Amino acid sequence: MKTSLNRRDWLKTALIRSAGLTMSGGLSLINCNSRRKQIPGTAKDNIILLDQNENPYGISPHAETAINDAIKYANRYPDDHSEELVELIAETEGFEKENIVLGAGATEIFRTAGLLYCTDGKEVVLADPSYFGFVNYTEKVNGRMVKVPLDGDFRHDLEAISGKVSRNTSMIYICNPNNPTGTIAKGADLSNFCIELSKQAPVFIDEAYHDFVEDPDYSSMTGLVKEGHDVIIARTFSKIHGFAGLRVGYAIAKKEIIDEFKRIRTNFASIGVLSLRAAIASYKDNVYTDSCRQKNREAKEYFYGILKGIGFDYIPSQTNFVLFPIDRDSEKFRDEILEKGIKVRPVSFQGNHYCRVSIGTMDDMKKTAETLKALN
Ligand SMILES: Cc1ncc(COP(=O)(O)O)c(C=O)c1O
Repeated sequence: MKTSLNRRDWLKTALIRSAGLTMSGGLSLINCNSRRKQIPGTAKDNIILLDQNENPYGISPHAETAINDAIKYANRYPDDHSEELVELIAETEGFEKENIVLGAGATEIFRTAGLLYCTDGKEVVLADPSYFGFVNYTEKVNGRMVKVPLDGDFRHDLEAISGKVSRNTSMIYICNPNNPTGTIAKGADLSNFCIELSKQAPVFIDEAYHDFVEDPDYSSMTGLVKEGHDVIIARTFSKIHGFAGLRVGYAIAKKEIIDEFKRIRTNFASIGVLSLRAAIASYKDNVYTDSCRQKNREAKEYFYGILKGIGFDYIPSQTNFVLFPIDRDSEKFRDEILEKGIKVRPVSFQGNHYCRVSIGTMDDMKKTAETLKALN
């Protein structure tokens, strides 16, 4: 049985344990650039990277073959290959190709949505904490963010979010499952929320971790796009397909919205031909993605057991990462673990400190378990 952490219960003990820590409100995460920092006392190549929710198993063997075969197309612009990937996604998801736009990762989709809906004081309503990459980008283009704390179970508080949406709202961002908590908004609740709220502003649903979810209460919001609502779905190949370095993502929305995305996106060719051919091969390779999902489940269950044994009260996750509260400053905790050759993500919000660990291979998780035991 998984530990089910309720924030209120945890706070009782954590506040006592963490007395003396700075209580800084709001979300604070390390800068991505620290990934390239010199790591004292440890050879960089030996670091186990559990900080960016990457797929530790690499890409599908079919994707690898496709990359090698695609070298012959490298001197040509990639439009035919993008078209083929769009058609494949459209057919599989039950859409027309006019409902899909590709991006160099979901990040390019954020960028385009950001330019359309989040620039210069435009108001975006979203949960706090939520995916820091989206938050960072929106801040850069001077969007005005209205942040709504998660509820006591670390889930989106859809009612409170609804209460913050007004005629000034330009977009609503929902990360489902949410990063950094790994929690989901229930399908029925989110669907009702989207139907109502999208009458006021487009609802952007970030489904980066969609492929890992096993909770039957979850559902993708693609059905609402089919019904004609102003809902935008973002997906990525970076997670279950292992494409973080290949940069492929896409959005699904109604044609009028996709046309707007196409009008202002970088251009038709932001994804290279090797990545496109690899994505086409990987998208068809369910055997590979099923095996990644299965291995992720096993390593996550193992890690839950370890955390429970040590006394860390984790938040059950529907993704390939787990967040748990810690009794010391999250950045110091990250540094202590890094000294032992493992890189994790420090997270802090509402004055409390957490550690987010991506699920690596079973071997990675065993080494992480040893390190956590030694530090505790
Ligand atoms: C929720 C979420 N959305 C989007 C991204 C970025 O995806 P991409 O690599 O496709 O740009 C991430 C990466 O960690 C993420 O966690």
